[in-house]
Amino acid sequence: TGSCTSGICYVNGEQGILRYRGYDIEDLVENCDFVEVAYLLIKGELPNTAERRRYAELLNKESLLHHDMQSFFRSYPFKAHPMSVLAAMSVSLSAFYPEMGDIDPELQVDLAVTRLVSKVRTIIAFIYRHMKGEDFVNPSYKYSYCENFLNMMFKSSVIEYQINPLYVKALNQLLILHADHEQNCSTTAVRLIGSSDANLYASVSAGICALWGPKHGGANQAVIEMLELAHEQKWSAQDIVNKAKQKDSGFLLMGFGHRVYKTYDPRAKIAKRLCQEVLAESGETDPLLELAMELEEVAVNDSYFKERSLYPNVDFYTGLIFRRIGIPTNMFTCMFAMGRLPGWIAHWLEWNKDPYGKIGRPRQVYSGPYVRKVQNLNDR
Ligand code: CMC
Repeated sequence: TGSCTSGICYVNGEQGILRYRGYDIEDLVENCDFVEVAYLLIKGELPNTAERRRYAELLNKESLLHHDMQSFFRSYPFKAHPMSVLAAMSVSLSAFYPEMGDIDPELQVDLAVTRLVSKVRTIIAFIYRHMKGEDFVNPSYKYSYCENFLNMMFKSSVIEYQINPLYVKALNQLLILHADHEQNCSTTAVRLIGSSDANLYASVSAGICALWGPKHGGANQAVIEMLELAHEQKWSAQDIVNKAKQKDSGFLLMGFGHRVYKTYDPRAKIAKRLCQEVLAESGETDPLLELAMELEEVAVNDSYFKERSLYPNVDFYTGLIFRRIGIPTNMFTCMFAMGRLPGWIAHWLEWNKDPYGKIGRPRQVYSGPYVRKVQNLNDR
């Protein structure tokens, strides 16, 4: 049965339809940027010009990280998985930005939400700079949300960094594609934690942990690792498909299959198109894209995949785009988290405002022993 009533996201897995607040994903990707879609998910309506400007200004204002928080990054090993740092930093925001005295609770939530959307982007860029052993680059009022992210990630004092408008477009579209997907594993985690009245930052941190797994958001990293391994080992598309069909191999075709979509994931269609556009810009071919497209062709025509309705999902092509932008593989799931953030927040708010207002507490079917008596230690 449905775990809740929700008015945020509509998914039809048979027909491959995805809508946020009634707007088709294709429509949003073509006509909006990520900030507008975040606003739509969180507030329920697309912003008008004045609202859009005010929201962008607020996001800029809230984008800096508390100086003491910056020292946290330095204590993590360079090789720490970025998702572990992201989860820890997100929950730490509640320590650095606690309740705001006696201001109106509605306004407090608004501020906490905006802070989160803005600061998570800064946190992800700082994780990258720390991994590289480089100084942090602060956000700037001069740039849009996505431009700012790219600048914080890649600006250098020794090599000129030009923000590529195609990468800005790609980033906006990718973040929109990830922005919500109704009751997936991480969103359900956020709603459940939120139902205990835990604060927003703590609830989102739980969502980040849930997203990390390779069956969920970690799949984008796993896809690239699979393609790289196959390329190195000179496996053909057919070899990979054959491996994925062997039940005892423990090998799945990553980026394929979905609990809800039993047809082509509409996000995968958009990601494939975008991937071809971004990779075509340099004029060079990417052997991993060629292998991915061949793999798709072989898999969708294979009876094993057909019978089980397994099609490419959102993660199949997105990693190739992140990789071209320069984002390292172990940070792909952080990118998914940055996109999914407005969705998590919208669901947290929706649950919070639900007049039902009860703590989430699923029951179970007990399958253990009925009743037993403790035996003396020497007799066990
Ligand atoms: N490769 C090979 N076989 C597969 C795959 C795959 N990627 N996915 C499912 N199957 C088989 C599975 O073994 C099972 O076979 P059988 O009926 O013979 O036992 C059948 O298809 C049904 O699979 P399931 O595991 O019952 O399906 P599910 O709805 O529980 O799992 C899934 C969905 C996404 C976890 C799974 O398809 C999977 O692990 N895919 C690979 C990981 C991946 O790409 N994840 C990203 C999901 S989309 C983004 C997101 O949600 O974060």
